[in-house]
Amino acid sequence: MAPQLESFFKQVDDLSDHFIERLGKAVAIPSVSSDAARRPDVVRMAHFLEAELKALGAEVELRPLGKQPDNPSLDLPPVILARYGRDDDKRTILVYGHYDVQPAEKSDGWNTEPFELVVDKDGRMLGRGSTDDKGPVLGWLNAIEAHQVAGADFPVNLLMCFEGMEEYGSEGLDALIEAEAKLFFKDAEAVCISDNYWLGTEKPCLTYGLRGCNYYSIEVSGPAADLHSGVFGGTAQEPMTDLTRVLATLVDTNGVIQIPGIAEQVAPVTEDEATLYDSISFTMETLHQSLGSKTTISEDKKKTLMARWRFPSLSIHGVEGAFSAPGAKTVIPAKVIGKFSIRTVPDMEIDKTNELVFKYVKEQFAKLDSKNTLKVGALHTGNWWVASPKHWNFSAAAKAVERVWGVEPDYTREGGSIPVTLTFEQATGKNVLLLPMGSSTDGAHSINEKLDKRNYIEGIKLLGAYLHYVAVEPMQ
Ligand code: BES
Ligand code: MN
Ligand code: MN
Repeated sequence: MAPQLESFFKQVDDLSDHFIERLGKAVAIPSVSSDAARRPDVVRMAHFLEAELKALGAEVELRPLGKQPDNPSLDLPPVILARYGRDDDKRTILVYGHYDVQPAEKSDGWNTEPFELVVDKDGRMLGRGSTDDKGPVLGWLNAIEAHQVAGADFPVNLLMCFEGMEEYGSEGLDALIEAEAKLFFKDAEAVCISDNYWLGTEKPCLTYGLRGCNYYSIEVSGPAADLHSGVFGGTAQEPMTDLTRVLATLVDTNGVIQIPGIAEQVAPVTEDEATLYDSISFTMETLHQSLGSKTTISEDKKKTLMARWRFPSLSIHGVEGAFSAPGAKTVIPAKVIGKFSIRTVPDMEIDKTNELVFKYVKEQFAKLDSKNTLKVGALHTGNWWVASPKHWNFSAAAKAVERVWGVEPDYTREGGSIPVTLTFEQATGKNVLLLPMGSSTDGAHSINEKLDKRNYIEGIKLLGAYLHYVAVEPMQ
């Protein structure tokens, strides 16, 4: 028998203004994890969630994670471990999300204040963190509240793990998950993460794979201080020249990684897999729309999906210490740090990949025959994850999607990374499902990040419905 969900759904609709207000309060806290100066706001965000959870009757603990490894004077923000319900007759489901966000400044090109939730006439709710990941995190709390107001029985015991360092590589969380696997997470029978997006704007999806992310820095230094290029140009070997020459050897214009040994680690495409892409609801037009341009590497849908989901990519992100302001400054930067990352896929190994990268970068620098000094290192690394969607956790979620959205979901992988996904799978031994709320045009990490009101409200219904279906789905 299909779960009774009407009174819960009705309450979600009735409480929608209240839920949007709750998201507004969360967005107003600029919990930017990469900015040391914002750390108090990240901690404030943890306390906001703690208070909201306690008001809903959840048991809540804030767990310290110690100091930040690359900035030992700074405390990491706490992990929130919460439990709602202790009924031995119910299944226990573990959910994870993150309450930290990417940086945002109005001057980056936002049309509105990034840390002020603005709902426009088309129902777009603009604000940093709206879709990544404050909307989905609050989705779980809102589902609890709507059950309470509706007087509906909550279908599962819910374990919640919300962290504040995801956007910085989930510093410190692996160890906590491993330590708590047989303690706080002991009863978990399945795991659900809502921290990704639909492939387009109309069709929901269930996601069973993510790429990993290894993030690197290349530091080149020489002179003791920045120099006047008129006085020293032509006399000093310039760090910026060396760095750009090394960066230029990493990847070509069509995204082909030039580091030997990387492609060799990638698992071959199987026959089964090759047929998978055609049926996916995805068009190059939606991609162009999300991109805001037509500058794609390929015009082919299948090649594009494979490039995003199952092949590695290398992106050059920026240069610390380089002149980047408007105008023309005649400076020779004394020390520059180039940043790039590789999205990794099966069967790439983190340590092996690091070794290949370090060796290649050192070789390329050596070829320059420069007297400057090079340092190359990894700032953070995180594993890829691919699971089987043939599991009751996924079939339950598919029923919830059909109930709320009236369509069967696509089964997708993602190009992005959530470093602890594999850790949850391995430490708990349970199936992990990614159940997105937002859509492809939300612009996570970009300017004007938004979550559509429809995706938020129906998404709250979806998360609640999923808990009902996963509570009764036969375990096969
Ligand atoms: N929500 C994203 C992960 C994601 C991105 C899922 C795109 C699906 C599609 C997450 O908040 C994120 O941004 N992760 C970082 C991790 C990195 C810092 C290791 C990412 O992917 O860049
Ligand atoms: Mn996220
Ligand atoms: Mn993110």
